[in-house]
Order: sequence, then C-alpha cells, then structure tokens
Amino acid sequence: MVTPGDVGDLDAICRLLAASGLPTQDLSAEAAPAFLVVRRGTGIVGCVAVERCGEFGLLRSLAVAVSERGKGLGDRLAAEAEQLARQVGIARLYLLTMTATAFFEHRGYRLTDRAEAPEAIARSTQFSGLCPGSSSFMSKPLPQAKGAR
Ligand SMILES: CC(C)(COP(=O)(O)OP(=O)(O)OC[C@H]1O[C@@H](n2cnc3c(N)ncnc32)[C@H](O)[C@@H]1OP(=O)(O)O)[C@@H](O)C(=O)NCCC(=O)NCCS
Repeated sequence: MVTPGDVGDLDAICRLLAASGLPTQDLSAEAAPAFLVVRRGTGIVGCVAVERCGEFGLLRSLAVAVSERGKGLGDRLAAEAEQLARQVGIARLYLLTMTATAFFEHRGYRLTDRAEAPEAIARSTQFSGLCPGSSSFMSKPLPQAKGAR
C-alpha cells in the first residue's frame, strides 16, 4: 500500500534512492513527509515525491527496490503522485530521468525542450544542478477534475 512518508523515513528513503542511482543531496528530514512510500516490514521498497514549483510540480525520486521491480509498484506510485498533484491544483508535472524515459512515455509523459521549462522548474535543484544535463526532460498535463480548483 502507498502511504505518506514521515520524518523518520528519511534514512530509508535515501538508501533506496542511492541504490537506485538517484540524487539525495538536497533531501532533509523535513522533505520526508512530502514523499509517498511503500513499506515492507521495517523497510521502504518504493518512494516518490512531488516538489511544488509555483503552479507546476516536479515529479522526483521515483524508485522501487530492485527485488520489487516489474510488479506494478512504480506505476502505482506514479499514479498516486499524479493524483496528489491534481488535488493541490498542479497543472502540469515535469521530471528528469536518465534511465526511465520509456516508463514515463508509457504513462503519458512527453519529451520536452529544456528551453520550455517554466522559471520555477528551471530554478529547482534537480533541474539546475543535481540531474545531469544529459537527462531526459519530460512533462505531462494534469487536467483538473470538474469542480476542482
Ligand atoms: C522506473 C522504476 C521506478 C519502475 O518501477 P517498477 O515497479 O519496476 O515499474 P512497474 O512494474 O510499475 O512497470 C510499469 C511498466 O513500465 C515498464 N518499465 C518499468 N521500468 C522501466 C524502465 N526503466 N524503462 C522502460 N519501461 C519500464 C514495465 O515493463 C511495465 O510495463 P507494462 O505495464 O507494459 O508491463 C524502477 O525501474 C526504478 O526504480 N528505476 C530506477 C530509478 C529511476 O530511474 N527513477 C525514475 C526517475 S525519477
């Protein structure tokens, strides 16, 4: 089950991200509650976060433990992150990825020109430094449900 993270999860989240080749340098304990996680026993086998950047969001730190891959967890985490983003009125999600371009294409994300990045996204630590310039930059509109703000 996908549940919100809490401050005590930071170490486990960072271990999973590091083992998945994703950056952790800009994460502090305060960031942990912004994560969604999948727990197994005392550990965490899946995580994702949406970093708010003005009216947009950066989907980041999506990782599934190697032993749990291929079972739909990544898909589930991405779907829940999108749902959360929609609920807080985020109009479009952006992301950077080195190895999962096809995974995100499958979920409706499209390669996006970096020059088209909104200023708030371009200023994020992921975009401006942590993710290599060779990463794929992708985005997906999040149509708001009727009646949502
Ligand atoms: C990307 C990642 C989260 C996918 O997790 P997962 O739990 O294995 O994914 P799922 O089982 O939900 O797979 C969903 C679909 O995507 C496909 N898929 C999974 N990983 C893929 C990848 N790296 N590239 C292309 N397709 C992929 C699966 O085959 C599956 O396809 P299907 O629905 O046709 O069967 C996982 O491989 C991972 O942690 N990678 C390292 C970290 C990373 O690159 N994160 C993304 C940048 S934030």
